[in-house]
Amino acid sequence: MDFSFILVNPAHVPHVALIQLNRPKELNALNLQLMGEIRDALKALDEDDSVRAIVITGNERAFAAGADIKQMAGKTAVDMLLIDQFSTWDAIRKTKKPIIGAVSGFALGGGCELAMLCDIIIASETAQFGQPEINIGVMPGAGGTQRLTRAVGKALAMEMVLSGRFITAEEAKAAGLINKIVPVELYLDEAVKMASAIAAKSPIAVQLAKESVLKSFESSLQEGLYFERKNFYMLFATEDQKEGMNAFVEKRKADFKGR
Ligand code: CAA
Repeated sequence: MDFSFILVNPAHVPHVALIQLNRPKELNALNLQLMGEIRDALKALDEDDSVRAIVITGNERAFAAGADIKQMAGKTAVDMLLIDQFSTWDAIRKTKKPIIGAVSGFALGGGCELAMLCDIIIASETAQFGQPEINIGVMPGAGGTQRLTRAVGKALAMEMVLSGRFITAEEAKAAGLINKIVPVELYLDEAVKMASAIAAKSPIAVQLAKESVLKSFESSLQEGLYFERKNFYMLFATEDQKEGMNAFVEKRKADFKGR
């Protein structure tokens, strides 16, 4: 895949693909083209049977410092409406395969929101998360008031969104925003390791499990339980269910085929 603002490569372990944001001079500011490329890459990887998990990363200094302020500065409300940039984000949200965010340095504004679209976040000890849109006269627009609040609760979300204060990796971990903090030289390896562990499971079970967890944000408990149950039953139609349970009984490692 050939892109201008991201690099897409297989990771060094089987079944894992790596998307790296690649606008280092601009701290990976998320211009419209870059977001479109992430959308296109995720769609292609979702359709590629050899890929079972995806890692999204930036670089040591910045995961992403937010939407591209220079690109937005002169826009009117009508321009923004017509550009409809968030339809790209909606498409990214629909990725079926698991996405692991490997975050170091700044994850701000749209960068924090992109991290929150990941299913699991591994952070370096230098990571900083924030929704500083308030400093430039606006507010989060790609889920910052919604996903952040669901992840960390009202008190911290209000503080971050209204004051623009960045939180450290430690604070993000304590608040439940991220999964793990590792030394800066290890964050990408650790994310790939997590992706590799997930890639060894049944891909259909992983997909339905991801879908079911995400459903909990959008449904009543009763609806969510019903949805979960249907997905659970459906997995008994897969060869991977037979393989997984037989392997357990036969005391061997399961070999999941995604069928
Ligand atoms: N958009 C465009 N360019 C950006 C950018 C952004 N969000 N963030 C950083 N850059 C550019 C800077 O303009 C600078 O470019 P030049 O060298 O050409 O001047 C370069 O990246 C390096 O940045 P700094 O010199 O500012 O680096 P620093 O270390 O002094 O500061 C920072 C780092 C605190 C992250 C600071 O760059 C900053 O505050 N960035 C903006 C963060 C922000 O407000 N993000 C929210 C954007 S709005 C949004 O995301 C809306 C939404 O919900 C979708």
